Amino acid sequence: MADRLKQIYSQFFPFKMSSELWQNVPLAPPDSIFKLTAAYKADSYDKKVNLGVGAYRDDNDKPWILPVVRKVEEIILNTPALDHEYLPITGLPEFTVAAAKLILGPDSRAIAEGRVTTVQTISGTGANHLGALFLSRFYQWTGDKKEVYLSDPTWANHPAIFNNVGIAPLYYPYYDPKTLGLNFDGFLSSLKSAPSGSVFLIHACAHNPTGVDPTRDQWNAIAEIMLEKGHYGFFDCAYQGFASGDLDNDAWAVRFFVEQGVNMLVCQSFAKNAGLYGERVGALHIVSPGKEAAERVKSQLSVLQRSEISNPPSYGARIVTLILNDAALFEEWKRDISTMAGRIIDMRKELFKILTEELHTPGNWDHIVNQIGMFSFTGITPEQSKALTEKAHIYLTVNGRISMTGLNRNNIRYFATSLDAAVRGTL
Ligand SMILES: Cc1ncc(COP(=O)(O)O)c(C=O)c1O
Repeated sequence: MADRLKQIYSQFFPFKMSSELWQNVPLAPPDSIFKLTAAYKADSYDKKVNLGVGAYRDDNDKPWILPVVRKVEEIILNTPALDHEYLPITGLPEFTVAAAKLILGPDSRAIAEGRVTTVQTISGTGANHLGALFLSRFYQWTGDKKEVYLSDPTWANHPAIFNNVGIAPLYYPYYDPKTLGLNFDGFLSSLKSAPSGSVFLIHACAHNPTGVDPTRDQWNAIAEIMLEKGHYGFFDCAYQGFASGDLDNDAWAVRFFVEQGVNMLVCQSFAKNAGLYGERVGALHIVSPGKEAAERVKSQLSVLQRSEISNPPSYGARIVTLILNDAALFEEWKRDISTMAGRIIDMRKELFKILTEELHTPGNWDHIVNQIGMFSFTGITPEQSKALTEKAHIYLTVNGRISMTGLNRNNIRYFATSLDAAVRGTL
């Protein structure tokens, strides 16, 4: 009977649906950050600490829905006119206008001159992808090589995103493990030695994973060389407001480079500063030399976006638009951002104090308070980092990066004493 069934089956489906179909597909390793989170969740130790997560946690280690976002969600719920129709391909028009002003400044000349093309994207990752895809198609590459210079180190997704669109990642020196700060000379000499018209990916603020940003003087020097060499600035801004607690302050470098006339684009995310991680709300802004070029750029971005996501999602974009376009809500948002940034800065100060004043942990810990944003590069070795995870149930990436938002009043002392022991080799 089984044979007869097989015979009938093969008459209708003559192709072979065998277990060999995917035999050439290698098993990929799981994403390291998500793997870390899964290991943390599976751990039953009551003092366990998760310092891997790149999302804000409140002082009780819970995700935080911003009060202003809650308020706006109520408004949306009570506005029956807000239907579930498709958005335009390039996104909610009110959102793209407001998002561009937020990052480029309300008085941006580039915006006033119609030189900015903004497309709503699938959060910051989508903006990076669309920006990279656009460059891979349309950038005036010198020679037949498509390459991008990334900071060493950088967000782990950057090389993957560029590889996906056929742009090979190269690296410029950024972090100096000796000073636990910026390798400014290395960065500058890379800018100088790269072929003219090279593409440089630059973290706009709160560099991930190091928390090390250039000073304004250093930005000045970087912009000067970028202009001289005609390099292209691929700015990634995932943490506006998170670095200093001030939206304008954190957008300073981006606005400065636009004002200086550097050819550039900006990837913008509202995941962190609005706590809208899962809603995937972001934007890509491409600054062109003129209005007519900006229109052509927009037409091509529409074509690319259409074939990939067709239309961006509306919910998160509506939330952000309502906040950005209402003066009172905007003020509330700024207060919420200060709450998040302030808590992170407090944790930095507290950790620094315990390590230096109470425990007298060997080494210099100034970088804990000098680094900016959600992440801190502790400078510990991979062995010390592994020991923290294996022996103290503290989950962090092996490169020694910790997410400051994983620290709170309840666990900071446990973390500091474990770190102290790891550094002394007594854990
Ligand atoms: C440097 C950097 N760029 C972009 C992103 C994109 O995040 P999302 O896609 O959630 O907006 C992140 C998130 O961690 C990041 O750290």
